[in-house]
Amino acid sequence: MRILCYGSLNIDMIFTVPHFVEAGETLSSSSMTRSAGGKGANQAAALAKAGCETYMAGKVGKDGQFLVDILDNFSVDCSNVMVTDNPSGQAIIQLASNNQNAIILLPGENKNIKKDEIDNVLGKFSAGDWIVLQNEINQIGYIMEKAAERNMRICFNPAPFEDSVRSLPLNLVELLIVNEIEGAGLAGTKGDYEEIAKRLASLYPKQEIIMTAGSMGAYYAGREGFIYQPIIDYPVVDTTAAGDTFIGYYLASCIRGLCVKDALYYASKASGIAVSRHGAMQSVPVKDEIFQ
Ligand code: RIB
Repeated sequence: MRILCYGSLNIDMIFTVPHFVEAGETLSSSSMTRSAGGKGANQAAALAKAGCETYMAGKVGKDGQFLVDILDNFSVDCSNVMVTDNPSGQAIIQLASNNQNAIILLPGENKNIKKDEIDNVLGKFSAGDWIVLQNEINQIGYIMEKAAERNMRICFNPAPFEDSVRSLPLNLVELLIVNEIEGAGLAGTKGDYEEIAKRLASLYPKQEIIMTAGSMGAYYAGREGFIYQPIIDYPVVDTTAAGDTFIGYYLASCIRGLCVKDALYYASKASGIAVSRHGAMQSVPVKDEIFQ
């Protein structure tokens, strides 16, 4: 089974700071590293590292060629990533001393995807193939409709959340994975995580829903009922791409034929290992570390 990740590739600039910068404050960072990221690329890396036949589609500038090279090294097929003369997407990431992060995006080529390019990419995929989408590129609704016409199975991670997500054709999505912020935004309610997950399940009864909630674990609602998965604890150094790792390993586990409970366990283990390492796609563990 093939998995197409149609999404963002970003140059991540990670600033180590004592705390997130506040309004009016000028803050010194103790280091800055430039690394490979983007939710789409991170999820593609996680899927490939988990052993799936993974294809990446998207757009970068020449400054982002190294992102393609790194994905290529992880055995992701990048023949559908266009390299143009415009600037790539970038992410400014504040990594605070409590190991949490805050991210500012500059979309660059990620938001310059054209319908004819989408038609061309999707034309190479067929019924039963998965497509994995996030909310860092443009034309998401169009991609969902065209993928559904081809009977592709759709996994959607509405990150970052914007109100416009609610007007996407979410009825076409099979697997909807959110974090607690996206979950609250989509459910239109704040409060207890379990309540948010249950509200999402009642709003989207035909979808498999997972809500990750950082150190509070993950909640599943769908055909196998309601399941809670606590985190698998590892020492935390950098939470960047924890969610992307979870998504890649959850879907990879399902494709291996595991039940939801086991898939949640392996996804949590992978995400736990990712937060114990620095960086985004580089921090994602390989399958031998997870499926033992
Ligand atoms: O999910 C983490 C990713 O979000 C980072 O790699 C950054 O590029 C942003 O897209």
